[in-house]
Amino acid sequence: MKIKNICCIGAGYVGGPTMAVIAMKCPNIRVTVVDINADRIDSWNGSLENLPIYEPGLADVVAESRGINLFFSTEVDKAIDEAEMIFMAVNTPTKAEGEGAGMAADLKYIEASAKNIARVAKTDKIIVEKSTLPVRTAEKIKEILESKGNGVHFEILSNPEFLAEGTAIKNLFKSDRVLIGGDNTKTGQEAVKSLVEIYTNWISKDKILTTNVWSSELSKLASNAMLAQRISSINSFSALCEKTGADIEELSNAIGMDHRIGPKFLKASVGFGGSCFQKDILNLVYLCRYYGLDEVAEFWNQVIKINQYQKTRFSEKIISDLGGDVKEKVVSILGWAFKKNTNDSRESASIEITLNLLLAGLKVRIYDPMVKKSSILMDLESLLKIKKHSKTEINSFMKSVNIFDNHIEAIEKSHAVAILTEWDEFKTYEWDNILKNYPSLIVFDGRNIVPNAQYSIGK
Ligand code: NAD
Ligand code: UGA
Repeated sequence: MKIKNICCIGAGYVGGPTMAVIAMKCPNIRVTVVDINADRIDSWNGSLENLPIYEPGLADVVAESRGINLFFSTEVDKAIDEAEMIFMAVNTPTKAEGEGAGMAADLKYIEASAKNIARVAKTDKIIVEKSTLPVRTAEKIKEILESKGNGVHFEILSNPEFLAEGTAIKNLFKSDRVLIGGDNTKTGQEAVKSLVEIYTNWISKDKILTTNVWSSELSKLASNAMLAQRISSINSFSALCEKTGADIEELSNAIGMDHRIGPKFLKASVGFGGSCFQKDILNLVYLCRYYGLDEVAEFWNQVIKINQYQKTRFSEKIISDLGGDVKEKVVSILGWAFKKNTNDSRESASIEITLNLLLAGLKVRIYDPMVKKSSILMDLESLLKIKKHSKTEINSFMKSVNIFDNHIEAIEKSHAVAILTEWDEFKTYEWDNILKNYPSLIVFDGRNIVPNAQYSIGK
């Protein structure tokens, strides 16, 4: 099928950038990104300086096609009706309640999208799973789509997204691979061909991998699990380095030079954050248990446990080095985003570490170059609510939180500074001068940025 109209359901961190790139690279295809969140759509249609997502290079890509062949809209039904190919890029968070709560992926947004498509579609459509999904979700989607029995043929493809935030545009322009899973039937393979044709506009054929649907769905979970596993592995060694006098950066370098291991994803940190690693591994653990593979489940669960351990270890180090009795002591937190070059703070290690400090009685002064003050406050309040603190307690903790527009004000009046995100600007600060001005300031460096910090992870 020759694709002329694409609809993408979900205008988030994946839907927005991926569709902007498809629109740019395929000027003959009309791409409409829809969302039920009207504010988000307004921002996508608004000033290029204020797109809902901060991502280097994104504004230029959007500027090239927006209003020409790239559209952002809340008219979900209309876009579904007009499209021959529909990408599902809705969120798949960890389930908060019901069977599998705290572990399994919540598929309610996927199911709602599928029901919407089933209700509206009058012509045959190719449905593309862009969201990260448990293996065999396509089966469930097919069931929902075919429940109307109105004679429309749906072909379901799995095309997981591998972009990393902060480098999304770079990753989309030059992907390591594009993975497309389809059924081994005539119509299945035709659908795969249609999607391959779209990507060949800018990705070389040898980087486009076609597989069966289940391999594609599982490859996405497996890729994230393998990446997160490397971080937990190196973070586990950071704890051993601190006990033995070995240096984690020297260790990473030595390990990574073995080309069978490679140097990437070996940077010790305060723990990985982001909306996906934790939720995808929890989902993987849930799936393994579901299939009775308890040993496999426990292996992957350990990756999460080490990540948790790293965050707790860092918080406890601050509290103990400040003398244990920390009432009236103040820590400035530099970095709220879960990594540099994004305004996304979902599951950022900063949230949990800050909460641990607040619970111990510390006051915090926070600065991040990109995350909005309202998001920081919301992140903390949400976690306090999840941990079942009362309204009065939450109000009292929040009185100990101050947010600043620059690092100088954040550091002022602090007993310690904790560096939690690897923003480049933190690397260019004149740390020698800062320490000269505040000689008693203790630096807890969770990203190994400050030379001669009193505490650096894995040193
Ligand atoms: P997101 O929360 O930023 O965006 C999802 C959007 O879908 C939201 O704006 C939401 O309003 C919208 N939505 C939900 N239900 C809808 C419905 N029924 N109709 C219309 N819109 C609806 O999420 P995201 O970060 O873009 O992630 C989306 C998926 O992609 C997830 O499965 C995630 O695991 C996966 N993924 C994310 C990344 C990443 O870097 N964020 C990378 C690879 C894969
Ligand atoms: C990750 C994967 O890298 C993407 O391929 C995947 O598509 C995406 O998840 C997803 O499915 O959402 P992302 O979470 O955006 O991307 O960012 P990463 O660069 O992977 O970083 C994740 C976390 O790990 C960050 O907190 C980062 O600081 C941390 N990290 C990364 C380390 O602590 N050490 C490292 O060596 C690398």
